[in-house]
Amino acid sequence: MRVAMVPTMGALHEGHLSLVRQAGENADHVVVTIFVNPTQFGPGEDYEEYPRTLDTDVEQCRQTGVSLVFAPGLSEMYGTTGTEAPKHFISFRISKMTDQLCGPFRPAHFEGVLQVVNKLFNIVQPDAAVFGQKDIQQWFLIRQMAGELDMPVEILMGPTRREPDGLAQSSRNVYLTSDERKKAPMLFESLQRIRWQLEGQCHSARSTRAGEAITEPGTPAVSVNPAIISEEINRLDENGFHVEYFSLVTTPDLQPADVIEPGRLYVIATAARLGKTRLIDNVLFTFKDSQTHDA
Ligand code: PAF
Repeated sequence: MRVAMVPTMGALHEGHLSLVRQAGENADHVVVTIFVNPTQFGPGEDYEEYPRTLDTDVEQCRQTGVSLVFAPGLSEMYGTTGTEAPKHFISFRISKMTDQLCGPFRPAHFEGVLQVVNKLFNIVQPDAAVFGQKDIQQWFLIRQMAGELDMPVEILMGPTRREPDGLAQSSRNVYLTSDERKKAPMLFESLQRIRWQLEGQCHSARSTRAGEAITEPGTPAVSVNPAIISEEINRLDENGFHVEYFSLVTTPDLQPADVIEPGRLYVIATAARLGKTRLIDNVLFTFKDSQTHDA
């Protein structure tokens, strides 16, 4: 019997349910965990106000064929009540993979994520676990943890689910005012424009080497024009976003990339505040027959 787990913090939306369906295609039973984990929220972040909708979540899980919902309380996970800080003496130390993207803006966030995911893996003991592409840095970190610590769990990625106007689905979208909601899809539009421009640069580089196979060893990398990213940051800033970062990084180590090497997978990722809402989004990019991953 194969078990797939979908870890969540609740406030389930279509994005989560698509992960549940993907888990169901990979296993006999799906376990959904629902726990708003305090150790991954920094001071001043939205731990208290994070939407909590357990009854609706459980009903949605039931309708989507979930075998078990595990929704522990703080005392079960950390031996504390709501008023005391979680008790733990062991923590993760991450090097390099949190130097970029959300890492510098959310100190200790990913250590808290790895801590709770590790605990949930030990409790549920799944054969596979599905995490969304939207939290791309989290996904690469969890896969790295599972690999380095020889955890017998397969880490799967579910594509980002989007609203019809392109906004990535997120439990935090409920914080957006109606004006902000109208502007929010600009983030994905910027990511797509950068991806198209990178495709264009790679396409021109390829055409200048007519007849040469791009996968041949020694095929030159394409330099990235930094202006394509800075123009999008300016555009977003002018429209009321406060951009925390807008970066092109290598995978799986998540390091800044100023050249595109054929065949390698890159992430173009951004985080921006719109009013009090912090939005994140990303697209994947590979220089390969000018094909890209995801939508
Ligand atoms: O992605 C999330 O919702 C959370 O970071 C996770 C993985 C459930 C850990 O609390």
